[in-house]
Amino acid sequence: MGFKNTADVIIVGSGLAGVYTALNIDSRLNVKILSKGEMSENNSSLAQGGIAASLETDDLDDHIRDTLKAGSNVNNIDKLRIMVYEAKENIDRLLEFGVPFDRDSYGRLTTTLEGGHSRARILHAGGDATGKEIMQALYKEAVNRDNIEILENTMAVDVIKKDNKCVGVRIIKDNELIDIFSRAVVIATGGIGALYKNSTNSPLATGDGIAMAYRAGCILDNMEFIQFHPTALYSKDEGKKFLISEAVRGEGAYLRNKFGERFMLKIHPNAELAPRDVVAQSIYNELVKTDSEFVYLDITHKDRDFLVKRFPTIFNKCLEYGLDMSKDLIPVVPVEHYFIGGIKVNDDGMTNIENLYACGECTNTGVHGANRLASNSLLECVVFGRRIANSINNNIENIPLTILDRDDIQIEEADESSFKPIRDKIKYTMDKYVGIVRTTSGLLKAREIIDDIYEMLKNKYIYNREYIEVLNMTIVSKNIIEGCIKREKSLGCHYRIN
Ligand code: FAD
Ligand code: SIN
Repeated sequence: MGFKNTADVIIVGSGLAGVYTALNIDSRLNVKILSKGEMSENNSSLAQGGIAASLETDDLDDHIRDTLKAGSNVNNIDKLRIMVYEAKENIDRLLEFGVPFDRDSYGRLTTTLEGGHSRARILHAGGDATGKEIMQALYKEAVNRDNIEILENTMAVDVIKKDNKCVGVRIIKDNELIDIFSRAVVIATGGIGALYKNSTNSPLATGDGIAMAYRAGCILDNMEFIQFHPTALYSKDEGKKFLISEAVRGEGAYLRNKFGERFMLKIHPNAELAPRDVVAQSIYNELVKTDSEFVYLDITHKDRDFLVKRFPTIFNKCLEYGLDMSKDLIPVVPVEHYFIGGIKVNDDGMTNIENLYACGECTNTGVHGANRLASNSLLECVVFGRRIANSINNNIENIPLTILDRDDIQIEEADESSFKPIRDKIKYTMDKYVGIVRTTSGLLKAREIIDDIYEMLKNKYIYNREYIEVLNMTIVSKNIIEGCIKREKSLGCHYRIN
């Protein structure tokens, strides 16, 4: 074995939730961060628009009000207050870690507007490369810390428990099955975009942490709430779809149908800047009404130099597709973007299993209600990440390290290509029946298909990376579909038409 199989804390995931938590853990504690791919392969590094934060005290209650309104008022108000009130101290911490948020010529932080926000309170970096800039600064800090070890291409497969307490994590690394033990574990494995054919997410977002937590006995909550981003660049490419940030609408872009009409004007007083669920569902309806495959985003009324500077990533990506944002309309469609539901946690990110925490997109803190307000996700990662770190720092002395022997189980060879058709079937099923618009008959059909896959997979639990990923996708899909069936009425981004 190439490394020590114990640590004080194991963090599963190298996105913002995982790395920021690690950086806030007492530097006397030994931390291992596990990353399924390379360190920077995650949704955090893809974030564009920014991080919402009320830096002025007179904005705090408005930020709460906007989040409640976007979330259909079913948000967890206590956790929401925590998130909004603790935003500033965490932004200060990100600045301390060297995050280069954009500033104006006087050196003041610049903020933008996005859908559902009543005030420009979204900080951004590198124009539209907020996630990349934040993560690069944090990775630099993490690799310089002696107490943090980052294990790339290392997949966590299961939580190890003793007497219903979490004592470690089983991993696959270099084709070896290894058990590592720690006094606390934090699951920070991100979202579920890879369950869908069309998503803005990293292909690694197969919901592993949620499935691991479920197998370990954690409570999952609000699984029916999946956010579809209104404006992914339309393309026939397979796989991940490129996002055209909501900040483009924040800077004045219009949505037009194929007849050139600004259809959002008739639907919501805030038109293109209505909450995300309203815009995504309205686009869907417009596509059906006009028999189209996409609508257009139009920002041709803005100056080219402004667009190049403000949206460098998006401008260049559009050029790759032969589109000049300053002259051409951009074809866009709604696709899966963000998972609101997930592992139930308390105010300090603890799950219902002792010594097991969860942070970031894999959790359901309840702050987003039934529809997340734009740019509140990065904020949730840092606020609750710091709380988890504080809770671990305060409690770890009382948690003993437990090391268990293991039966001689090995990784099984399996033909990886044999899982591809199942993976594709799950993606197709989730896109078709559990997408932006849901019907009873569609959901029942999806349940039948996913249940069949689950029956086929469940009895031969084997340690093989492909198998476990597909099993995890099945378990999470199954829980999502059950959640959708149970909630018979539309609420937020759960849109039922019958
Ligand atoms: P991630 O950043 O996805 O990290 C998850 C990590 O877990 C990865 O490192 C992955 O390798 C690892 N992992 C997964 N499974 C395993 C396993 N089995 N073993 C080991 N490691 C594992 N939100 C905003 O607030 N503002 C924005 O501007 C914004 N823009 C976005 C743009 C795009 C294109 C996308 C996709 C999302 C955007 N979001 C935005 C949402 C936001 O980026 C995410 O919700 C947030 O970054 C999630 O962070 P995380 O740390 O929870 O997960
Ligand atoms: C975007 O830039 O539109 C994404 C913002 C978010 O998901 O919060």
